[in-house]
Order: sequence, then C-alpha cells, then structure tokens
Amino acid sequence: MATNRWPLFDYFPSLARSLNPIALCNGPTPVMHAQSLSENAWIKCDDVCAEQYGGNKIRKLEFVFAEIKRSRAERVITFAPSGSNAAVATAMVCQQQDIDFDVYTFPQPNSASVCTNRALIDHYQANVLPRSNFLSALSSWAFTLQRLNPKNYFMYPGCSQQSAVFAYINAAIELSLQAESGECAMPKDIVVATGSGTTVAGLSIGAALALPGCTIHAVQSARTSLGPIDVCSLEGVKRFRQRAWKTLKHHSKKLSTRHDENIVWHDSYLGGGYGADTLKSKFALERGKTIGLSLDPTYTGKSFAAFCDLLTKSDDTALFWNTHSSAPLPENLKHAHLIRSGVPLTPSLSSANARAPRM
Ligand SMILES: Cc1ncc(COP(=O)(O)O)c(C=O)c1O
Repeated sequence: MATNRWPLFDYFPSLARSLNPIALCNGPTPVMHAQSLSENAWIKCDDVCAEQYGGNKIRKLEFVFAEIKRSRAERVITFAPSGSNAAVATAMVCQQQDIDFDVYTFPQPNSASVCTNRALIDHYQANVLPRSNFLSALSSWAFTLQRLNPKNYFMYPGCSQQSAVFAYINAAIELSLQAESGECAMPKDIVVATGSGTTVAGLSIGAALALPGCTIHAVQSARTSLGPIDVCSLEGVKRFRQRAWKTLKHHSKKLSTRHDENIVWHDSYLGGGYGADTLKSKFALERGKTIGLSLDPTYTGKSFAAFCDLLTKSDDTALFWNTHSSAPLPENLKHAHLIRSGVPLTPSLSSANARAPRM
C-alpha cells in the first residue's frame, strides 16, 4: 500500500518548498473494484478523503490554504451557487483554521443535496451574502471595497486557484503508485466531473507524467460561458494546464516543452444546464446507490452516467473519479435535506451558529 501523501514532490523536489501544502485529507484515498458494473471498472474514492467533508475541494484546499496562510489573510471571500460544494468545503476549512469566510451566493436549481449544502454552509458559520443572480454575485465579489484590505483573500468559485491544479497532479501520481503496487489495475480511461477545470487540468498533467496512454474524460457540468465569462470549457482547462506545466518545467529542466493532449471533453451530459437533472443522471444516481455511491445531481450524477456509458463501449480498464463527499452529516443536520428552498433555516441552524465578527 502506497503511503506517501505528496508523491508530486518525489518528481519535483524543489516544488515542495514553494507549494508547501497543508494536510487536510487522509490519503492515499482508497480504490474500489466495481465488479458488479464490469470486470474493468474501478473507482477512486475521493468522497472519503476527509472525515467531516470529503470530495475534490478538500484536496484542492490543501494547496490553496497553504497560499492563504502564506498571505496571512484573515478572511476568505468568494462567490458561489447557493448550495455549492466548494462553499461547504471552504467554510469548514476556514472554521478549522480560524479564518472568516464571506460567500456571495446566487440561486441554483433546488435538490436534496443543495438544501443539505446550504445547511452545512450555515453550520460552518460562513457569512452568506445572497444575491439574485450570477452577475450580481460576481460583481459584488469583484468590486467590493474589501479588495483594498490586504488581509482579505479572494478565492475564485470552485476553489479554482491556479495552485489547486497541483492537488490533482499529485492525486494522479498517487493513483499510479496504487496501480503499480497492485491495489488496482492501471486505468486506460479516467472519467471525472468538470466545473472550473482545475481537477481535470491536474489529472491530465499527472496522467501525462505517471499514467502513460491514459485518457481523461472531462464531463461538463456547467454552461461553457455566461456572457463574456468563460465558465466551463476545454479552453479554460488548457489554460490551467499550460500555466501549471510551465511551473513544473521551471522545477525540472528534463520536462519536455509540450505535454500530451490526453483530454476528451464530453458536453452531451449537461442537459438543461448546471444542476439540472437529466434522465441519464437520475438513472446514474440510482445505479450508483446499488454499489454504495452517494452521488450528486450537479456533478457526479452526470460524470457517473458518462462512466457507465463508457463501460458499455470499451473493454479497457476505466476508472470513475468520485469527487463528491460522502461524509455523514453532523448530528444536528440529519434532516437538512428537508429544508425547502425559500424557507429560512431554523434559528438553531442559522443565527445560533453565527460567528462573532472579527475585530
Ligand atoms: C462534486 C464535484 N465534482 C466536481 C467538481 C468540478 O471540479 P473542478 O471545479 O475542479 O472542475 C465540483 C466543483 O466544481 C464538485 O463539487
């Protein structure tokens, strides 16, 4: 069993000093053989990467919070859909690290997991600043006077700082070590949900380094753009990848200038848009349950649907990267999914949890 948390630094020792991630996850995360789906089906269980709340955001935050600590920030400010996994993860880590957290939110389609996330964001004492739509949340975040205060750290939605890419370069190398040690088969295809693109960008570089011949299937979970703003696109992923590759090259002269084009982009699972159910995603959620997966409609329902389709088309070893937390809810939130959209949280979930403002 591989035990090294940061195999990335075995490849690039001098990078350890500049990134210096903080440990928030238990890792390496397990790999599971999903034989009931197919002899060739494997799952990388990032859903259990941390006890309180798992998923891909916690891995990313290991690198992003290192940056926040270096900047000596006392407050993190972001914007997000109202039931965002990124907002939950950031709120939890901010609470652990005693850093304030402001999140400008905008509405998204309602679902049980969205309601649960809203309750979790409140549970972790985020300062929620609701706005009526995406552009209003974006402009509140972009043009707030808080930008003048150097103690504030501005985080992109989805925890998608450039440093987050290294989390998934590291994760792909982690997987390659698990395959080498016989914990799982070496995957030919990896299927993963895509929002900001930092996870896919990292996996694609990690695969180029350590998983020869492996293709990363990026399953689009949000519209390509909103007005002039690039939201979820292959071009966006390539930009993240290019910048990270340049940094790696700086730390290892042996690296070639070009890296593999190893991403296949899937836009056909998006359906009506971000968070909107599709027939395939509903079916995938149910199918996931039969093998113990707790998936969400926004991201992993759609990526798992793509994974199931791939299994029917190919006999190659395929791996589904589970990016959605399956951590149990805190005791006082066990019924959070029953909280309906528009109904205020009960006092025990909202005002009672409010944190005193930092003086
Ligand atoms: C469960 C889940 N999977 C996948 C993603 C996509 O990750 P990324 O923003 O790195 O593309 C997100 C968030 O955006 C997420 O919450």
